[in-house]
Amino acid sequence: MGLSGAYGRTDDDESVRVIHTYLDAGGTLLDTADFYGAGHNEQLVGRALRERSRDDAVLSVKFGALLTPGPGIPGGGADGRPDAVRNYLTYSLQRLGTDHVDIYRPARLDRRVPIEDTVGAIAELVEAGHVRHIGLSEVGAETIRRAAAVAPISDVQIEYSLLSRGIEDEILATCRELGIGVTAYGVLSKGLIGGNAASPVLAAAFPRFGGENREHNDALVARLQEVADAKEATLAQLAIAWVAAQGDDVVPVVGARRAAQVESMIASTSVTLDDDDLARIDALVPRGAARGTRYPEAHMADLDSEG
Ligand SMILES: NC(=O)c1ccc[n+]([C@@H]2O[C@H](COP(=O)([O-])OP(=O)(O)OC[C@H]3O[C@@H](n4cnc5c(N)ncnc54)[C@H](OP(=O)(O)O)[C@@H]3O)[C@@H](O)[C@H]2O)c1
Repeated sequence: MGLSGAYGRTDDDESVRVIHTYLDAGGTLLDTADFYGAGHNEQLVGRALRERSRDDAVLSVKFGALLTPGPGIPGGGADGRPDAVRNYLTYSLQRLGTDHVDIYRPARLDRRVPIEDTVGAIAELVEAGHVRHIGLSEVGAETIRRAAAVAPISDVQIEYSLLSRGIEDEILATCRELGIGVTAYGVLSKGLIGGNAASPVLAAAFPRFGGENREHNDALVARLQEVADAKEATLAQLAIAWVAAQGDDVVPVVGARRAAQVESMIASTSVTLDDDDLARIDALVPRGAARGTRYPEAHMADLDSEG
């Protein structure tokens, strides 16, 4: 997402190097969406994969978020109608330069369309060989159950970090009960944890980044510095390791924009956290301690995962 303008300008040649750095180090999971840069991100991933083997990558593609021209984050609702699903995938395959995606998922629940219909349409695309697995994104426990009753679900992509632990209420347990994985995004809380997070886009739109909330959240994160130092890790590496430590079924997805960030992310796999470390981190940054909702208020209403 960040490679297609979400946090400001990027350079495509550098972005391709970022993807290659990751794949060359043995990374596999590439997460994209048809609406990231209105198709730009899929074209970028397609370009990067032309110089690598398609089979080296697990392509996770989100669809359905509706756009309007101009800058800003998608906020126009979602389209999960079966006809739309087939249409979206046709364009995505073309932009990605492939005949199949590995995981295909609606980015948001379209409340006008039963999830059974959306998932049923993807299941037909699995049958036809255009999609390997069905995923979900930002949905709540009931939707997960309804979807899983239609077809096998590989994973739910959802925000999960030291500052966003809402999935611990019900969603994580539901996934575990049904044998569904979690791909956690926002692991660095969009750069609030261990990044510079100076983007004016974020400050203007996201409540956690504005005014007093920002001061409070920065102070919270700063409490973790001593744990990071003790682990000889950066704050970002600690935050990635914390998510990875939540279970083998939880996979952190990190929004790297530079090759050095990819290298730092990969190095975080050697940061190990035992139960004492996790308890200490919990005491320093308890659940729910962050101030400000994780999305702008209008977007919170679109999140099935928020009830
Ligand atoms: N399913 C969904 O609804 C959904 C929603 C959002 C995102 N996602 C997926 O999740 C991915 C990541 O999400 P995200 O970008 O929102 O969150 P994120 O990974 O929490 O934050 C990205 C920010 O972290 C910084 N960063 C990256 N690697 C770093 C490192 N090694 N050390 C220090 N800082 C680092 C970047 O800083 P700089 O700005 O300095 O580059 C960037 O601002 C997206 O690319 C997208 O594929 C899914």
